Amino acid sequence: MKIPSNNVGTVVKHYSDQIGSLYPQKEANAIIWLLMDDLFEINRFALASNPDLRLSESELLLIHKACKKILQNIPVQYVTGKSEFFGLQFKVNESVLIPRPETEQLAQIIFKELPLQPVRILDIGVGSGAIVVSLKKNRPDCILYGCDISSTALETARENARIHETDIHFFECDILSNAAVKLIPDVDVIVSNPPYVCQSEKALMRSNVLQNEPHDALFVPDDNPLLFYKTITGVASERLSSEGKLFFEINERFGEEVAGVLQKYSFTNISILKDFNDKDRFVKGEKE
Ligand SMILES: C[S@@+](CC[C@H](N)C(=O)[O-])C[C@H]1O[C@@H](n2cnc3c(N)ncnc32)[C@H](O)[C@@H]1O
Repeated sequence: MKIPSNNVGTVVKHYSDQIGSLYPQKEANAIIWLLMDDLFEINRFALASNPDLRLSESELLLIHKACKKILQNIPVQYVTGKSEFFGLQFKVNESVLIPRPETEQLAQIIFKELPLQPVRILDIGVGSGAIVVSLKKNRPDCILYGCDISSTALETARENARIHETDIHFFECDILSNAAVKLIPDVDVIVSNPPYVCQSEKALMRSNVLQNEPHDALFVPDDNPLLFYKTITGVASERLSSEGKLFFEINERFGEEVAGVLQKYSFTNISILKDFNDKDRFVKGEKE
């Protein structure tokens, strides 16, 4: 990858074209500008106001290395080590799922439904900690818990809680194990965005997700797609306070089935909510 000049405009065009071989051109442009901003705090406006802006040799090397990773199919969030969620910046790495815009929508739904008085909230499968940290940041009066089977994900979640100066109780727990229910505290709200992609849906996924994001965070067996919903609803029926709320992010194919699980456990006010793409994406319900 020989760069014809150190002029910022030329460098951006050069890498944007290269990245355009992997991503749609609009996305490729967004990626190169995200890297320029992250590495050198240079944005489109800086270039527009100074078209002669140049990079030093060491800066050229840095952008070259970052673009090389993008061309190796690594998601830009893992290259920068950062992802934006609920207006906050989260540290991410290969041990956590990159938080998705749909999950941000889930956090918004929960935030709007929180009562005025402080409540106890648990996220099962906390990953990077994006949901719990965002909720705690906006409702410091609430008590937040987060658990995950992955100790490395928990390390990242703890780091994000520290960065955002939020006090959150994290603990390791395999929610599918028999011991789980004993580890789960009594709470008023449970949220989970568990693994929900069926193995057979792999073919529909982007290769950079498949090659880089943790499979334990993504996939469930084809013959048991409701595995996590059944288990978590069972745990929620024991650990939620009366009128406590349960919120799930779901596979768009299984809205009715997940709602059926909540019904089976006698939850009330059950609804299936759509995401911004008009797909069934969330199920919520209330304990009797
Ligand atoms: C889809 S990710 C969600 C991460 C984060 N809450 C978010 O929304 O961005 C699912 C998470 O569940 C965790 N997980 C997978 N199996 C689990 C299990 N048996 N018990 C607890 N957590 C589990 C994964 O490690 C992963 O962090």
